[in-house]
Amino acid sequence: MSKVYTVAVVVGSLRKDSINRKVALALAELAPANLQLNIVEIGDLPLYNEDIDGATPPAAYSTFRKQVSSSDAVLFVTPEYNRSVPAPLKNAIDVGSRPYGQSAWSGKPGAVISVSPGAIGGFGANHHLRQSLVFLDVPCMQQPEAYLGGAGSVFDEAGKVSEKTKPFLQAFIDAYSKWVAKQHA
Ligand SMILES: Cc1cc2nc3c(=O)[nH]c(=O)nc-3n(C[C@H](O)[C@H](O)[C@H](O)COP(=O)(O)O)c2cc1C
Repeated sequence: MSKVYTVAVVVGSLRKDSINRKVALALAELAPANLQLNIVEIGDLPLYNEDIDGATPPAAYSTFRKQVSSSDAVLFVTPEYNRSVPAPLKNAIDVGSRPYGQSAWSGKPGAVISVSPGAIGGFGANHHLRQSLVFLDVPCMQQPEAYLGGAGSVFDEAGKVSEKTKPFLQAFIDAYSKWVAKQHA
């Protein structure tokens, strides 16, 4: 059997009914057999503060860092807040990047999908996030780009993805599985 790669999935919204979380779950279902997607929770991470990040960091920091560093790849599914990434997501990125020189993100094959009910699909958030990922040495899949707009009508009441959007998500996750395998080859 070919290798199964574990993927730490970071969802940029903390909302219970988050569309982004639904997209993350849909991607987990659509993922090819060589990818195992696991959502890594970021809602309980204290706001990053170097003063509390000494010899005994908050348990939530340590858990999060371990979850990311023990994964083979990272996937970001995020809404756009004011043309950038939501604060909890930026916080999670900062937490994972420390202690200095021991970033949990370094070298993990990544991808970004931004999801918004708006028309431009969170383009601003997607590219602000990519700016940090360049610095964090996360090789990021370039194509297909994934800006999912009009996302308010993508899921039915049961949380099932629409037939119209399914091929878009399938193409994205199929390309990502190839990207992850290539980076680990
Ligand atoms: C503080 C705030 C700022 C927002 N800014 C944007 C924005 O810049 N662009 C956009 O497309 N949607 C924006 N939205 C709307 C979100 O895209 C929308 O609430 C979306 O459903 C959030 O994703 P979720 O359903 O996964 O929580 C904003 C929402 C909030 C709460």
